Amino acid sequence: CGIVGYVGSQQVAPILLDGLSKLEYRGYDSAGVAVYTGEQLEVVKAKGRLEILRDMLDGGRNLKGTIGIGHTRWATHGQPSDVNSHPHISSSGRFAIVHNGIIENYMQLKNRLMEKGFAFASETDSEVIAQLIEYYYNGDILDTVVMLQNSLEGSYALGILCLDHPDEIIAMRKDSPLIVGLGEGENFIASDIPAILSYTRDIYHLEEKEIVVMRADEVKVYDTSKELVDKEVFHVDWDVSAAEKGGYEHFMIKEIMEQPKALTDTIKPRIQDGEVVLDDITLTKDQLEKVDKILIVACGSAYHTGIVAKYVIEGLTRKPVEVDLASEFRYRDPILTEHTLVVIISQSGETADTLAALRYAKQQGARTLAIVNVVGSSIAKESDDVIYTWAGPEIAVATTKAYSCQLAVLYLLGVYVGRQLGKISDEENLGMIRELLALPEKVATVLEKKEDIQYFASRHYADKDVFFLGRNLDYAVCMEGSLKLKEISYIHSEAYAAGELKHGTISLIEEGTLVVAVATQDRLFDKTMSNVKEVKARGAEVLGLTTEHNTRINETTDFQFYIPETLDIFLPSLAIVPLQLFGYYMASMKGCDIDKPRNLAKSVTVE
Ligand code: G6P
Repeated sequence: CGIVGYVGSQQVAPILLDGLSKLEYRGYDSAGVAVYTGEQLEVVKAKGRLEILRDMLDGGRNLKGTIGIGHTRWATHGQPSDVNSHPHISSSGRFAIVHNGIIENYMQLKNRLMEKGFAFASETDSEVIAQLIEYYYNGDILDTVVMLQNSLEGSYALGILCLDHPDEIIAMRKDSPLIVGLGEGENFIASDIPAILSYTRDIYHLEEKEIVVMRADEVKVYDTSKELVDKEVFHVDWDVSAAEKGGYEHFMIKEIMEQPKALTDTIKPRIQDGEVVLDDITLTKDQLEKVDKILIVACGSAYHTGIVAKYVIEGLTRKPVEVDLASEFRYRDPILTEHTLVVIISQSGETADTLAALRYAKQQGARTLAIVNVVGSSIAKESDDVIYTWAGPEIAVATTKAYSCQLAVLYLLGVYVGRQLGKISDEENLGMIRELLALPEKVATVLEKKEDIQYFASRHYADKDVFFLGRNLDYAVCMEGSLKLKEISYIHSEAYAAGELKHGTISLIEEGTLVVAVATQDRLFDKTMSNVKEVKARGAEVLGLTTEHNTRINETTDFQFYIPETLDIFLPSLAIVPLQLFGYYMASMKGCDIDKPRNLAKSVTVE
């Protein structure tokens, strides 16, 4: 979910709508605002996209006031509906709240409040917050929210309006992101920077449970003992255009096209005098030598980069590497010691499962290293070490450039550790450095051929099933390619290790079934081609993806796409690009809402 709040002298409703439009990637099941109109807290909310709310508010013109809060929802408790939308208002109408997160003990609290005569309008866990503040309220708002925090279990980012303090927004967070934007004569709260970037670049990051009391001309931040906290101002130096589409039809294609630059920004500063230099991390050579296992933990596409990294880092360092889904990791009782290096990968740095995995690993005494895109995010702050991907803000729900930069950082990490451990010779190092530096340019070459993929997609966008086949690194890339396609185009697809298909899934291949065969690694080319022949023999139509010199792929496939050559370990960075484009164009031709696929959210801050 996404939260925004404003207090100042301008009309608030248009500002809230604008802020929410920048946060829609966080959820778009419903949207709503609460504004103090001079007499009361007026709430307008509706199921569905923000556009519906915008129409109801006539672009913000028919709801007057200069202080308000807004919300865009990704449904957890309670289906998307008008009543389940935020803001929620307390029974007496004195409090309005917007919430992101999950209140785990809400049933308990709700029952207690119902016994005391409170009536609930919605099925959400969030409404309990509005009613509970009402219940605790003793005229001292700070006191009240401290009591509230003591009662709530779970995660929250909260924006609160109170009729008795009509010039103040109260805000706080625990395990869910929230920032404060500092303007002149106006101030903001938001789940993420893009929401306020066109108004201010000065922000406060909030620590867990800090309480913000914000007016037009001052922002006070308290800790849980109600002591004032001296906050440091963080200046955001992104370009506003980073959060705009800039002529592209969708953020996704803009971000796909930005990959050469994002890769340059991520790789180049970390290569000095022919060596990978990771001065961002504090891990010493001695500590690295003692590492007996590397465990990579992440969700979604970040997990897929972890699978590539397993192959690559194990090879470069000769240390065992395991990869886990963050949501599974904690519950399988993994073996963790002080010699385990847990690598956490997350674009947002806020994914609840991933954050929980990081905390668990730390608690078990493992050493943690995070690869994160969002500076100052929870995972970045809590990990022992962090290496940032410099992808810039990524807005489209389906990740592309952040995925590519995660891969790049994992390569850098592999080469760095391998070198520290003496597993990589000078000559090998030279070759790797040269190829790492050449990656952005090679990605650009692939992007120049995007029309070939567009044409291919135009022939297949009505397909119902697509299979992605590959071995080893190509298989890891297939997983991401398949996810890209299905998440935005809603076409069923599966990624299969090419050699495994015959053990079951081949029964799904029929006349005309589309198979994308990724065969970029020379040593496995013939093996994969044998599997391609197996599906061809059952009627499949095959797109072959390989490197420039493997023109033999013509013999076994119906359509071909060639990527430039590089060292095997870096091929995933090139192979993923046509697959991203394929997903994009298939979805585009189907007329899907590419940047906001149904049911998804970019940053999932609930478990
Ligand atoms: C969500 C997004 C995915 C993303 C995953 C992990 O499910 O839709 O695209 O890969 O979260 O996000 P993170 O911010 O931790 O990389």
